Amino acid sequence: MSPRPLNNHGKQGRVSHTAKKKVGLPTESKTVQAQLLAARSQLMVYAKDLKLMLKKEEDKTRKLAQAHAQLLTYARDLKVALDTEQQKNSELEEAYTDTMLRLARASRYKDEETGAHIARLSHYTQSLALFIGWNESRARCLFAVAPMHDVGKIGVPDAVLGKQGPLTEEEWEAIKQHPLLGASLLSGSASPLLEMAKEVALTHHERWDGSGYPGGLKGEEIPLTGRIVMLCDLYDALRSPRPYKPAFTHSKTCDIMLNGNERTKPTHFDPRLLEAFREMHHQFDGIYSTVVES
Ligand SMILES: [Fe+2]
Ligand SMILES: [Fe+2]
Repeated sequence: MSPRPLNNHGKQGRVSHTAKKKVGLPTESKTVQAQLLAARSQLMVYAKDLKLMLKKEEDKTRKLAQAHAQLLTYARDLKVALDTEQQKNSELEEAYTDTMLRLARASRYKDEETGAHIARLSHYTQSLALFIGWNESRARCLFAVAPMHDVGKIGVPDAVLGKQGPLTEEEWEAIKQHPLLGASLLSGSASPLLEMAKEVALTHHERWDGSGYPGGLKGEEIPLTGRIVMLCDLYDALRSPRPYKPAFTHSKTCDIMLNGNERTKPTHFDPRLLEAFREMHHQFDGIYSTVVES
């Protein structure tokens, strides 16, 4: 126990308030100092923790950056693989289209139809498809397959195809086989383009009112591709000279298609397509005049 401080008279006893204050300062100072030391060491602990946390954050950020870089590499590799695949697919589609055009050319040797008819058909069908709202890529497919519509004529005897004058019942039946022959020629492929070509070959003589062949399909039973090609094929047939008729003008052709004659009736066409034709027929005339035999 520490000795009691001396009073003014040199004796130990109760000290005055002022004296107590003077004498007590070092003790409080020590306490404050101790508190400061404690706070300092606490702060040091906090600083250490903070440093640790920062290091962890830095590690996490570095790992995220590494993962991000890795993902970018994967994405780049994937893009290269996809580009290669697309390149292969487009080469394959080009090969299919080329084969189809060669087949279409082969069928022309047996038929009255010209190369210009086939080229024009591509343009008519594409324009009409775009007009009714098809996207570019689907319309381009129709452009590629339309020339194949009569490929089945390869299987029809020359004597029947080249006959000038009226056909017998039997000959007419042989002609009516060409959509089925064309479809069987084009069937069994995994290519969507050839699948569309088959659909067109099979249905380009069907009529909206059910009076067509070979299936006598009616309305929307007929695929839209077939309905489009049928309308365009007929427009070009009317504009072109045939052994049994002269070439008609654009306005006479429009009149026949929109109002009908003894062979052609407006009910043969999909009403929606006929309405579209009524609005954009001038495009057909432009195609007929500009796409000519080379
Ligand atoms: Fe045909
Ligand atoms: Fe044709």
